[in-house]
Amino acid sequence: MSEKLFRKPVIIVNFKAYREVNGPGALELAKICEKVSGEAGLNIAICPPTVDLGYVARNVSIPVFSQNVNPRAPGSATGWITPSMVEACGAVGTLINHTEHKIKPMDIEECMELSKASNLYTVICSDNDKVAAEVAKLRPDFVAVEPPDLIGGDISVTTANPGIIENTVEAVRAVNRSVMILCGAGIKNGDDVKAALELGTDGVLLASGVVRAKDPEAAVRDLVKMI
Ligand code: G3P
Repeated sequence: MSEKLFRKPVIIVNFKAYREVNGPGALELAKICEKVSGEAGLNIAICPPTVDLGYVARNVSIPVFSQNVNPRAPGSATGWITPSMVEACGAVGTLINHTEHKIKPMDIEECMELSKASNLYTVICSDNDKVAAEVAKLRPDFVAVEPPDLIGGDISVTTANPGIIENTVEAVRAVNRSVMILCGAGIKNGDDVKAALELGTDGVLLASGVVRAKDPEAAVRDLVKMI
C-alpha cells in the first residue's frame, strides 16, 4: 500500500503534544508542511494532536496520520481511538507503539488488523533493531526505529548511533523486503535526512526539530533541501 502514496524519501512530522501545536498551532504547522511539500514535490506526512486530527485532515491535502490508535472496534469504546474513526475523519494512517505511547505486543497485532481493515497506512515504532525486525513481520507499511535516549535531543541518531540504523535495515530486510524503514530521534535538518537515506532507510520520522523550531517553515525547507 505504501508505494501508492509514498515514495522514498518519506518525511513524517509528528507534532506530539507540544504547546506550539495546541489549538490553532496545529493547522498552522500543517499548512507550512503542505506548502513546502507542494514546492518540493514530495509528500510530507504529519501527525497532529489527536483532538485536532479531523480538523487538520479536512483542511490540508498532505497525508495526515494519527499519533496512536487503540485496539478497539466501533461501538462501546468510550474515549478510545478506533482505527475506524481515524479513517472516517479523513486521516490516512497511524503510528502504532510510539515509544511515548507503548502498547503490548498483542495489542500491536490487534491495532494492525483493525487499521488494515480501515485501509490505514501503518507505522509501527520500535526502540531498536530487534524490536523493529519483530514488528516488521506484522507487515506494516513502515517500521520506524527511534532510540529513546536520543528523542527530543540535539544530536541526530544518524550521528550519535548510525549503527542502530544499519542494524535495523539489515534485520528488517531479512524478514520483510517491502516494508519502508524510517529512523528518528534528534533529526533536525537536511544533512540528517541525507545521512538517514545513505544509511539505507526510506526516510525519517521527526518532531522537535520542526515543531519547536524558531522558524518552522525554514526548518521544513531545510529538511528537504538535499532531496
Ligand atoms: O516521533 C518522532 C520522535 O519520537 C522523534 O522526536 O523530537 O527527536 O525528532 P524528535
